[in-house]
Amino acid sequence: MQFKIGSVAVKNLLVLAPMYRISDLAFRILCRESGAGLCFSEMVNSEALIRNNKSNWLLTKTIPEDTPLGMQLFGARVESMRKAASLLIEKNRFEILDLNLGCPSHGILNQGAGAALLKRPQRISEILESWRDLGKPVTAKIRVSPNMLHTIKLAKTIEKSGASALIVHGRTIEQAHKGKTDFVAIKRIKKSLGIPVIGNGGVKDRESLELMLDKTKCDAVMVGTAAIGNPGIFSELLGKKPVAREKALFQYLALCKEFGVPRFGRIKTQSLAFLKHGKHTELKQKISSAKNLAELEAMLNKGLLN
Ligand SMILES: Cc1cc2nc3c(=O)[nH]c(=O)nc-3n(C[C@H](O)[C@H](O)[C@H](O)COP(=O)(O)O)c2cc1C
Repeated sequence: MQFKIGSVAVKNLLVLAPMYRISDLAFRILCRESGAGLCFSEMVNSEALIRNNKSNWLLTKTIPEDTPLGMQLFGARVESMRKAASLLIEKNRFEILDLNLGCPSHGILNQGAGAALLKRPQRISEILESWRDLGKPVTAKIRVSPNMLHTIKLAKTIEKSGASALIVHGRTIEQAHKGKTDFVAIKRIKKSLGIPVIGNGGVKDRESLELMLDKTKCDAVMVGTAAIGNPGIFSELLGKKPVAREKALFQYLALCKEFGVPRFGRIKTQSLAFLKHGKHTELKQKISSAKNLAELEAMLNKGLLN
């Protein structure tokens, strides 16, 4: 089943979540091959883009096959968010511009960005309004709060400020990425808006996918944690056989080599995640000590292919 975000058609209801240090270009390509209809980049710092910080610009790298792509920005200052979005559009191809309103990490909250903005609907509105004439459909990703009326009011403000879809992570700031997803809140937000709502929180298999769709009536579903080290999750959700995680790991490394990933440390973390469920205890310990990609590949070749 298709859905649309503004003028952007998405081939199915499965969306890869923006995830810091996870949703890089190589990983997104694997998720798309597995069946994700839409992928988001990890959050990118608006101020760092304006400063022309090289590693932050590397996070925005994409290729023609990486489509449709939502690029997520975080920041608190309207002028910076407008400037960073304009620069991104000037330099990169992508389809959807997304505003991070859910990050609960202290570093982001201290900047007044991410979930800190949930308390400032006026500022959210100003940022979204500043993106209106940039020619891209805009989305925002929020969390629910214990005050349902506040959350619904905020969702309506976001719609009125020009958003073409809203992503609702059905957990509070205090819950971070764990615990029960508030289906009632997502359902009420969906009922209150005219734009598509993407439900997020706890989808890890076909059963939880059906539950999210059934309980909330949301238009699409975003998958986060369940995709870490397991891009095949999208095949599983579509009722297809996924590529084995070990094979997917080699594919991931090959794509990293092709595209370049900001830091080797990330590749190591991702590699460990791919092996999370296997019985590779010794190999995982070894991987932790790898100093570069060649060393890592040699260890994996020896540990997995022999
Ligand atoms: C490692 C990690 C990194 C994340 N980074 C981001 C991010 O950059 N931007 C964002 O909006 N949410 C981020 N999130 C939240 C996810 O997008 C998602 O909302 C959350 O994990 C709930 O979905 P899930 O239950 O399917 O994991 C992150 C979550 C995890 C686990």
